[in-house]
Amino acid sequence: MKINPKLLVIIALATIVFTGAAATTDLKPSEETNTYVNLKVLPKNISSKDLQKIMVDDFEDALGVSCNFCHAADKSTGKLDYASDEKPEKAIARSMMRMTIGINKKYFKIKHPMIGSTELTATCNTCHNGVPFPDGKGN
Ligand code: HEC
Ligand code: HEC
Repeated sequence: MKINPKLLVIIALATIVFTGAAATTDLKPSEETNTYVNLKVLPKNISSKDLQKIMVDDFEDALGVSCNFCHAADKSTGKLDYASDEKPEKAIARSMMRMTIGINKKYFKIKHPMIGSTELTATCNTCHNGVPFPDGKGN
């Protein structure tokens, strides 16, 4: 029997989505699952270790900013609400993530570029190099 390779890809993706969804409803120890609810570019089932590494090394350090540059504080608790999309900087960061993925794919021929992967040729830091506005216009 000949299996359509496209079908295999669909099954593989469905499995990833399914296990990702299962991880949020299962009662597993917190280090095995994640509680992220609003990931649109990063894989939904990313480990908390990988996500933290991206937020700190790829975003905070590359842009020379703190978490609150992109993440808004919850009005009642005053704590950062990481899932909130209130700050425009978060939306811009998402589009920058997509742009960075695109540059690696199109111009550096990396097949499956992922933010945070050591495979990437161009990263946030390539342009930002420690500053939030590399064109000098933002401040
Ligand atoms: C340059 C902007 C930026 C900075 C700085 C940043 N983040 Fe994020 N963060 C994002 C974006 C964009 C997303 C959503 C990614 C996506 O949609 O895949 C996100 C998602 C998250 C999430 C997942 C929330 C959810 O439930 O969906 C957590 C947790 C988080 N960030 C924590 C942090 C922490 C902690 C810091 C500081 C150490 C930090 N972030 C710094 C842009 C940033
Ligand atoms: C090809 C170069 C380039 C890459 C790669 C890049 N950026 Fe940017 N980024 C810029 C430039 C230029 C600006 C300033 C734009 C402006 O002044 O509005 C900027 C601005 C930003 C801002 C501030 C926007 C604002 O107006 O408040 C954020 C947040 C940001 N980038 C996040 C990221 C993140 C996160 C990554 C990696 C996923 C990234 N960028 C990768 C060039 C780049």
